[in-house]
Amino acid sequence: MGDEVGIIGGTGPLGRGLALRFAKARMSVRIGSRDPERAREIVAGLADRLGEDAARVVGVGNADATEAEMVVVAVPFEGLRPALEPLADRLRDRIVVSAVNPLAFDGDGPYSLVVPEGSAAELCVALLPGARVAAAFHSLSARQLGRLDEPMDDDVLVLSDDEDAMARTVELAARIDGVDGLAAGPLRLAAPLEGLTAALIAVNQRNRCHAGVRLTRVPR
Ligand SMILES: NC(=O)c1ccc[n+]([C@@H]2O[C@H](COP(=O)([O-])OP(=O)(O)OC[C@H]3O[C@@H](n4cnc5c(N)ncnc54)[C@H](OP(=O)(O)O)[C@@H]3O)[C@@H](O)[C@H]2O)c1
Repeated sequence: MGDEVGIIGGTGPLGRGLALRFAKARMSVRIGSRDPERAREIVAGLADRLGEDAARVVGVGNADATEAEMVVVAVPFEGLRPALEPLADRLRDRIVVSAVNPLAFDGDGPYSLVVPEGSAAELCVALLPGARVAAAFHSLSARQLGRLDEPMDDDVLVLSDDEDAMARTVELAARIDGVDGLAAGPLRLAAPLEGLTAALIAVNQRNRCHAGVRLTRVPR
């Protein structure tokens, strides 16, 4: 697989956590932002923790993040359309991995938003003609990704309607120490996968933890 990944909205907790883990796995990472200067500041802030791997991570504008072979989308749901619409031409033929969970919060805690296209991942398909969309990373804790001294202990379920995009996203997930990527099925399953994160956040709030997902009785 290619050894470079771009992250649209890579300056947030998830993007930073994935960037740290991918860089430790000796991948090159382009952390993207609406503001390239902000991306460079975020990258400078990660340098101490990355040591000799710091040179693998660069901060760029979101458009430049799409130069990578595989591009992870790590923006909040409300930012998905504004982030992707201007990048549609650049993302044609790219593998685009949505980690976006359409969630909101009220007095009862987190809940899933209803997405007319079915899910955030299916909205990506609608916004990005020709892109090879996959969905993954929804339930990884950004906080835990940032704890580089501890391996992760998580399964990443991967969805795509494109078998090659699914296989390569499974490989990408497995680059993270302690993560197994599991090919799960087509993008029409994205809504329940994205929605599961609302339940996980509720578990975290009640139990003061950063829970992850592991499936049992899956051949590994
Ligand atoms: N946090 C987690 O533990 C976690 C775990 C799994 C999945 N996720 C999902 O991953 C996504 C990112 O999570 P996060 O916690 O890292 O989010 P976040 O901090 O709210 O946002 C990430 C980045 O997106 C950009 N952004 C914010 N609003 C935007 C808008 N309206 N339009 C375009 N870009 C915008 C910002 O970057 P710039 O200002 O630099 O452009 C921001 O730093 C979410 O969809 C979330 O559901 C999160």
